[in-house]
Amino acid sequence: MPITIVIGSQWGDEGKGRITDMLAAEAVLVARFNGGDNAGHTVTVGDQIFKLHLVPSGIVQPNALAVMGSGMVINPKKLLDEMDYLMDSGIEVDPQRLGISAGAHLILPSHIAIDGAAEIARGDGAIGTTKRGIGPAYADRTAREGLRVGDMLASDFRQRVIRRILDQNKGIVALYNLPPLDATEIANRYEQYAERMRPFITDVSEQVHQVLKRGGRVLAEGAQGTLLDIDHGTYPFVTSSNPISGGVITSLGVGPHTVDRVIGVSKAFQSRVGEGPMPTELSGEPAVALRGTGENPWDEFGTTTRRPRRCGWLDLVLLRYAARINGFTEMMITKLDVLSGIEPLKTCAAYRYQGQTWNDMPFGPDALSKVEPIYDEHPGWHEPIMSARNREHLPGPALEYLQTISTAVNVPISYASVGPERDQIVHFKSTI
Ligand code: GDP
Ligand code: IMO
Ligand code: MG
Repeated sequence: MPITIVIGSQWGDEGKGRITDMLAAEAVLVARFNGGDNAGHTVTVGDQIFKLHLVPSGIVQPNALAVMGSGMVINPKKLLDEMDYLMDSGIEVDPQRLGISAGAHLILPSHIAIDGAAEIARGDGAIGTTKRGIGPAYADRTAREGLRVGDMLASDFRQRVIRRILDQNKGIVALYNLPPLDATEIANRYEQYAERMRPFITDVSEQVHQVLKRGGRVLAEGAQGTLLDIDHGTYPFVTSSNPISGGVITSLGVGPHTVDRVIGVSKAFQSRVGEGPMPTELSGEPAVALRGTGENPWDEFGTTTRRPRRCGWLDLVLLRYAARINGFTEMMITKLDVLSGIEPLKTCAAYRYQGQTWNDMPFGPDALSKVEPIYDEHPGWHEPIMSARNREHLPGPALEYLQTISTAVNVPISYASVGPERDQIVHFKSTI
């Protein structure tokens, strides 16, 4: 059995964690392939709500092996804290259940200092990063100066950390006017982290190959979303990795022919946290109707930073774009329940830009911040739908809304979720 990829179709927080959890029940191996603890993935099992930042969401299911690919950047303290949190919650975390690629890069305190300082220096042009050191760690990786998880196996790891911090201190002092970091203290801490992490360090590509060879299903869990992709997203308001399906191939070290399912996860509306263009953004009461007030665990406040998310109508131009970039074979629409009681519903079918109608992503500098959305209106429904489990349980307008999405994107919808719980999912047989 080959690889199934779960991809965020928007700007992150689409509900990737919960679908990964569901599909992990059938998988032998579940891999995160990009990003770091900028991600926040939620898995809800009864009254237990797991918030995962680094460890693949598949760890919550008892059987799958969870691995972290070389395309990731890992803050070792955050990882070890997360492992402790999982063990305290009754989940086994040992080298039989969790593997970390030797090729993944390490986030250092200097990356975090630079991330924060660079945001301040950008002033009005700030990206709104999570300040987790993600961008600077990927910059080091590309510059071939970063430390990798595999360096933790070297006898001179301590010296490598000291050298890198001393080097980064030069920029921290000269460019950002900050005090230098204490390289010795950091090296001491990183040596302790290395001691705990060593048994988990592995050759992830080889592990994935072994599972595929034996006919096991591999599940790749994207972090962030297509529109945050460093190559194809809304640059420069993006993250520094490849959250798209192509990222799986490089991070896990597999060939493209090993992939047979690419599931694009999209909310039933649009959300974004951080800066950057968002054509369908709403303000005032209509935005609150989508965001919620914060009283429900699923309301639109960041899992990682608690920032309120910007909300707006579903943008079908961008969803079509995401389907193209990733090669979606199917889609999942999440948070359909949130639309109950909103009348009428709108979707953005096309843009008006430079006097023309654009059905696809406009081409041109800063185009997305200048487009005007062209909306279609749809009848809403008033009944709560959180207990729907099959298509017959959904009101007609909800089915029509899903049909509109599927037709506009030309990709079948396999699942729609109507609540955060494991079983709050409607399964379709690719008829929508
Ligand atoms: P991820 O980053 O893509 O894994 O998504 P997040 O976990 O950051 O955000 C999704 C939020 O929506 C979480 O609080 C989920 O529990 C919640 N959620 C996911 N699917 C649904 C759904 O269908 N309905 C509702 N009400 N909440 C959902
Ligand atoms: P999950 O996996 C939503 C956003 C940040 C910022 C931009 C760059 O939970 O969907 P970074 O710290 O990565 O340099 O920030 O990307 N961002 C996310 N937004 N969900 C995420 O992850 C995100 N990870 C990064 O808000 O706009
Ligand atoms: Mg999230």
